[in-house]
Formats: sequence, structure tokens, C-alpha cells
Amino acid sequence: MRVRLPGGPLDLLRPADPDAVAFDPVAVDEGVEELHPPHWARLWPSGRALAGALAGADPGLLAGRAVLELGCGLGLPSLVAARAGADPVLATDRSAAAVGWVAASARRAGLRVGTAVAAFSPAEDALTGRTWDLVLAADVLYGAAAATALTGLLPRVTAPGGQVWLADPGRPEASRWLDAVRDTWTVTTRALPDGVALHVLRRRP
Ligand SMILES: C[S@@+](CC[C@H](N)C(=O)[O-])C[C@H]1O[C@@H](n2cnc3c(N)ncnc32)[C@H](O)[C@@H]1O
Repeated sequence: MRVRLPGGPLDLLRPADPDAVAFDPVAVDEGVEELHPPHWARLWPSGRALAGALAGADPGLLAGRAVLELGCGLGLPSLVAARAGADPVLATDRSAAAVGWVAASARRAGLRVGTAVAAFSPAEDALTGRTWDLVLAADVLYGAAAATALTGLLPRVTAPGGQVWLADPGRPEASRWLDAVRDTWTVTTRALPDGVALHVLRRRP
């Protein structure tokens, strides 16, 4: 699909029929897998809106910056970040299928986007031992488990002075989560298209 964005369109590869995509086996514990619905297989309004906000942002936000996307799904915000000169860019999701599609889109567009299968956990190899200037996440706060995991993970993956850009379509879990993390983060919020809110989090000193 071709997505119109400030700075020009981007082509995003995706399954032809997201409803026909098989459930994902996801490791939830040592030797334990669950089947999860393939939410990654469509571009959600929050992913599209976050990509648009990044594409229209001050170039200094992205050029030469290290960018991490969590729960990337099809990874449009990561593609936008790479196009704007962010380096390195790492797109992650707990679904191996999702990050495969992101890698394919990046290859096709000639953009450098690294990918890794990673849940919201500091124990993930890909998320350990380094930090990122900008951490992106679109529509990931729809369950209590994800919210709890992000509370622990975000301070560990965000560089000192860095930011988290969290796009959300108004899910109740997101508003509970934002209230709970205000001791750790300052939060500024602005409206994006299609009922999506962009929450920009900066670590309190
Ligand atoms: C609603 S979709 C949003 C996808 C994409 N960000 C967008 O806005 O188009 C949620 C995404 O978060 C991923 N996800 C959910 N819980 C996760 C977790 N605990 N760890 C890693 N990824 C997770 C799912 O696999 C899915 O790709």
C-alpha cells in the first residue's frame, strides 16, 4: 500500500488480507507458547498518525538519532525515521512475521531499518545494553500486561535526554498507564488525525 506522508509517500508491504493471517505463536514463558491474534498485519490509525507526525517533525528530531520502535507491526514510523536520516533504526515486535514484513518494506524502499523479534522486556537481547534517543510506539497499550511491561522497559531503553513518542487511539489502558507513570515522566499530549493522541514522554530529572 502507498501511504501519503509529509515529505512524500512511502510504500508499505503488508499481507493482502489481514483477516486471513494465521495467529502468531508467541513465547510467554520458558517452553510455553500462546497463540496471539495477528494485530500486526494491518496499519492501525495510530501507526499512520505517528508516521505522519514524524514525517512533519523538525529534522533535528531524527537526523543522526538512534531510534527504537516497540510493537512496530508493519513499521511505518521506523521507515519514516530512516528516511529522515535516523541511524540506527531498530523496529521490534514480538511477532516474527511482523518484523519480516518491515524488513521487506525497508529493503524495497532502500532504507536502513534493523529488525528484531522482541517482547516488551529488558531481558530481550535486542533491548539490552544500549539506549535510544527516540523510542516510538503506536497503539500498544491495550492490555494490562503490556502496560506493566512498558513501565519497566521504557526507562531502560530511553537515553538520558531522550524522548518517547507514544501514539494512542484513546484506549482506557493508555490513560490509566499515563496517570501511573507521571512520577517518572513528564507527558505532553497533542491531537493527531483520526482521533489519535500523541503523548511525548521525557524523563523527569
Ligand atoms: C494494535 S497493533 C499496532 C501495530 C502498529 N504499531 C500500528 O500502529 O500499526 C499492536 C502491536 O504491538 C505488538 N505487541 C503487543 N504486545 C506486545 C508485547 N508485549 N511485546 C512486543 N510487541 C507487542 C503486536 O504484535 C502488534 O504488532
